[in-house]
Formats: sequence, structure tokens, C-alpha cells
Amino acid sequence: MLKVIIVAGARPNFMKVAPIVAAMKRRSDEFFPILIHTGQHYDAAMSDAFFRDLEIPEPDVDLGVGSASHAVQTAGVIQAFEPYVLSEKPDWVVVVGDVNSTVACALVCAKLGVKVAHVEAGLRSRDRTMPEEINRLLTDQMAELLLTPSADADENLRAEGIPPERIRFVGNVMIDSLITNLERAKKSTALADLGLENRDYAVLTLHRPSNVDEKFALDRILDALEQIARRLPIVFPAHPRTRKMIDELGLTERVERIKGLVLTDPAGYLDFLQLLSGARLVLTDSGGIQEETTVLGIPCITLRENTERPITVEMGTNKIAGTETSKIIQAANEALDHPPDKNARRIPPLWDGQTADRILDALLSEPPAVAGG
Ligand code: UD1
Repeated sequence: MLKVIIVAGARPNFMKVAPIVAAMKRRSDEFFPILIHTGQHYDAAMSDAFFRDLEIPEPDVDLGVGSASHAVQTAGVIQAFEPYVLSEKPDWVVVVGDVNSTVACALVCAKLGVKVAHVEAGLRSRDRTMPEEINRLLTDQMAELLLTPSADADENLRAEGIPPERIRFVGNVMIDSLITNLERAKKSTALADLGLENRDYAVLTLHRPSNVDEKFALDRILDALEQIARRLPIVFPAHPRTRKMIDELGLTERVERIKGLVLTDPAGYLDFLQLLSGARLVLTDSGGIQEETTVLGIPCITLRENTERPITVEMGTNKIAGTETSKIIQAANEALDHPPDKNARRIPPLWDGQTADRILDALLSEPPAVAGG
């Protein structure tokens, strides 16, 4: 029986830990899972709603770290997490994704000689101004077992000198959650509540500091949205950070004046899945949404200069439009004028809903020797 601590910190972690915890509960003769929430995200809409929708059991421990600067938040997780690792003495700690909680917990374990498995290892945007890129690079250096979602991730890790025996291609665990919940999401009333018709609207998400923390950057995205919203309504469930920045930058009135832009509170998992799967177009700076739209076969315009998920571009659904007004408008018009043929949809290998079990199998298989440990 393996005792495994699973770490969840921020919203994009929850759909990745849900299938892993569920699989461990199902295979309770092989695994004893302990779920730790760092508290990086704590609002009901950013955390509780996801635990409820994804049927994740209550965390065994909530470290309650909350929001702060990167240094303070990361240090807070490190300090609060260490005593649990020392007292629980797990066989493995599983961290997912690329948020501050991920790197903080991996560092604690590396120092204590506790084995870490990193789910979603090997993704690289090659943009070190992105906080997540630093988290990815460091977490992958420290983890024993690197569980990758796509072949490009394996290549990135090998190119960084990581021994191949530490790398396992298991597929995309977030897609396990998507496949499990697609039917349930149909029962959501999110679309009806907004008075929207299937395929007659776009969905927008925006929260990267590079897009929302500076007026110049946010302004030029708003300029593009103004134009796109003339063609179809845009639903915009705004991240608390984005909402706060819109206010602080004095843009609230401007946003409210954009006809066709429907600003809402952050959506729960099932409501968002319904909104996403019914959309004609998605505009986003998120990582996970690039992947979800690939599986759903929905055109996605990524409002960033790069992506750590190039496979979504290769599959044909995702377009990296950048953040200049004219480029965003052009990409949106192209996607609306030439919608992809849903029947020609391509899904990356092992994005099949079975990744959690492959992760568990990898943990069970003979672990490689601890480097230097
Ligand atoms: C974090 C992750 C990012 C991920 C995103 C998804 C890092 C470095 N960033 O960014 O990779 O894509 O989550 O949401 O880990 N806030 C609240 N309530 C909450 C959480 C946040 O009001 O429950 C507000 C606070 O003002 C906070 C700000 O949002 O200061 C930013 O939160 P933080 O967790 O620092 O980063 P995110 O932008 O959410």
C-alpha cells in the first residue's frame, strides 16, 4: 500500500487532482491518499465550487496560505507544508501543474528526500517572464517521476538532460475530468441563465499578469473585444485578479460600456464546461482552456505570444494570436468565417480519460533511484 500526499493549490489544479484522488479511492487496496489544499485559491468561486462540482473529497488538511507576493506565497506554502510531510512520511508526494504551490511543495520534498511525482511535467513556453515557466523548470528538476501529457514534453525534458527513465508519457489528466463531467455539465443552467443560444456566443477568460496588470496591455485587448462583440456576444467570467485590476486601472466604466460583453462572476467547473462546449469561439490566456477546446473541437484564440502547449496548435483548434488589437480581431474573424469541421477533429494521443490510472501505475512501478539521495 502506497501512502501518497496529493497537493492542490489553485483553480487549475482541481480538475487535475480530482481524477487522481478518485482513482486512488477506487484502488484503496493499493493506495492511501491524503489530500492537501495549500489555500493558494480560497474564494468560494475559485475553490469550493470546484470541489463540489468535481466531487473531490474535503481536503485532509488546508494550509490556508492565501494570496500574497510570489515570494511570500511560495515561502508560506513551504513553511506550512513541511511539518505535514515530516509527520505523514509519505511514499510519494504528487504535485500537478505549474502554480506556486506546485514548486513550493516539490522543493520541500526534494530537501527532505521524499519522492515527488510531477503531473503535467515537461511543458515549456520558453518565456521566463511567465511565473509558471519558472515553476515548471524548477519542479521538473526536483521531481523523481515526470509524468508528461504529450510527446513534446518528453522531448523538452530529454533536451534538459533529464534521464529518460524518470520520464513517463501518461497523457492529459485534466481530460479525464472533462470526459467524466461532460454529460453532467449539460444539466447546468449557465447558458439559459444568460439568455444565450448554443453556438451563438464566444467565451473569454483573462487573468495573466502580463495581460491584466498594465493599462496598455488590457486596453488593447479591450479594443479588440469591442470589435468582436459586434459580431457575437462574449461571455466573460472574470477572475478576481482581473476584476480587481479593471477597477484599479479605472477601466470599469469602459468594460461596462462594451455592448455585447457579458461580465460574470467566475464560473464553477460544470457551468464553465457547459459554456465552453456550446461556444462558437473561445478567447483565452489560460493554459488548460487551450487543451479543453482541442478535445471539444472548438476554435480557441490564445491571447499570448507563446504557448507551452504546442500540441493544441498542431491539432488545429488553437491559434496563438498574440496581444495586439489587430491580430486578435483578425484571428477572431478568421475563426468565425471559417469554422473548423468538427468531424475532422483530432485528439492528441492518450487524452482519453484514462490518464489517472496510468499515473497510479507509474507510481506503483519500481521507482528510479533518488539522484544524490
Ligand atoms: C494562479 C497561478 C496561475 C493560474 C491561475 C488560475 C501562480 C504563479 N499562478 O494565478 O498559473 O493560471 O492561478 O487562476 O501560481 N484572488 C482572490 N481569490 C482567490 C484567489 C486569488 O481574490 O481565491 C485574487 C487575489 O487578489 C490575488 C490574485 O487573485 O492576489 C492573484 O492570485 P494568485 O493565486 O496569486 O495568482 P493567480 O493570478 O490566480
